Amino acid sequence: MLQSIDFSNHQNRFLSMEDVSDQYLEMIEQKTKQDPFYPTYHIAPHHGLLNDPNGLSYYKMSHHIFYQWFPLGPVHGLKHWYHLSTKDFVHFEDHGVALYPDRDYDSHGCFSGSGFLEGKDLQLFYTGNKIGEDGQIIQSQVYASMDENLNITKHAPIINDPAPEFTHNFRDPVVFKRGKIYHMLVGGETINQQGALALYSGSSIKELNYKGIIKTEIENPGYMWECPNYYEKDGEGVLIFSPQGDLNKDKYNFNNVFSVVYAVSAILDTEQLRYDGREFIELDKGFDFYAPQTYEDVQGRRILIGWLGNSKSNYPTDSNMWAHMLTIPREITISGKRLIQNPIKELENLRIRNEKLSQEHTLFSRAFEIEVMVEESFKISFENDNEDSVTFSSNGEEYCLDRSNMTHLYADRFGTERYAIRLKKEKHIIRIFVDSSSIEIFCDEGQTIFTSRMFIDNISTVYSEGVRGELFYLQSITHTEE
Ligand code: FRU
Repeated sequence: MLQSIDFSNHQNRFLSMEDVSDQYLEMIEQKTKQDPFYPTYHIAPHHGLLNDPNGLSYYKMSHHIFYQWFPLGPVHGLKHWYHLSTKDFVHFEDHGVALYPDRDYDSHGCFSGSGFLEGKDLQLFYTGNKIGEDGQIIQSQVYASMDENLNITKHAPIINDPAPEFTHNFRDPVVFKRGKIYHMLVGGETINQQGALALYSGSSIKELNYKGIIKTEIENPGYMWECPNYYEKDGEGVLIFSPQGDLNKDKYNFNNVFSVVYAVSAILDTEQLRYDGREFIELDKGFDFYAPQTYEDVQGRRILIGWLGNSKSNYPTDSNMWAHMLTIPREITISGKRLIQNPIKELENLRIRNEKLSQEHTLFSRAFEIEVMVEESFKISFENDNEDSVTFSSNGEEYCLDRSNMTHLYADRFGTERYAIRLKKEKHIIRIFVDSSSIEIFCDEGQTIFTSRMFIDNISTVYSEGVRGELFYLQSITHTEE
């Protein structure tokens, strides 16, 4: 059977696992796992392409993480939901595929969606993607549920068609409840090519009625909004979504092909259909971050996980038949009108050895964390013996992440530097997580984050100036297959 598949042919993107031999899957899994750029403590696909996190929930004493998965190669093809769970973010149970695209309404993909806790099951909502005979895309919003034994039942689409003001791009449902009323937000593109959110409400989860478009003060909405996430905390409503289109780009903002924004505002007015958020802030300043979701755990923490990738970049590892990973989990809190992100505490349990960071620090592994006090001006550079590098620096006024000198430059048409205004001019601690080919930088006490891939062959040294602190080597997360 198939030894290789031409994914430039669009039809092949809809091949399913049944169309290929076990040997094909083993072959691509081997290629994936042998790739030195494959991560060790991030969630990544066994093979094929991962994109958005889905259905994030704390259910039955575990964190449940699903993600968009195309098993056969590093392209956006026939999407499944893959499922993992963990109690401690170190040991993971691997539950395999949770949703197969096996119904008429999701025959071309089980697209993104969310989890909602009620009763004894975990309620799941996702977008069924179907391409009709005339080539027309039909996206419906589907209700499913997972029981205590982690068996998933697909019920049926609860919303069959886009709301009247929308094109066929209508997806990624998220559900919340106020009093006895359920509300569902769906992201989409209006027929005037504007990004917008549709609200559905009702007293039964299976019967939600269309209320209308949510009005916001956002100046430039782009043409499409994907992956909305909404929660309320202490009387405030936090809205996060992934808009597509040309936003108000400047040196510090919206330089990625698609961005993620958030606002902290009065809670969404489900009667007047208003969300008052005026200032929509870019959530991440790096090159590779999209479609995050959040959920609340048993301790009342709000945890965010995003897709550490973006949909328009080709990565040098595509030839090894895998693409992308999820970000590390971050605890998010609200401070004024800003969201603060910090690596979740449990990640400290990954630390296996610590060293004082020297100015020229030789590495023995490519999975590590740096925690340093930075001066007004500083520079940290990750290099190999050929001086290929990625550098993060600040002159006191702004931060700069420079990837122009990597061994494998990718997607350079989207630029090689990203800047952010430095909010904490004084000394403060920044944390940087590196995992083979990813870097996540937390500065300004969690207000400014850069999330990116980086491809340097055999990183061997961290050079630094103007910083003082420690380097921790991190162990791999473990997976137990069910
Ligand atoms: C965002 C997205 C979603 C969609 C999913 C398909 O990356 O385009 O809008 O549901 O990916 O994989």
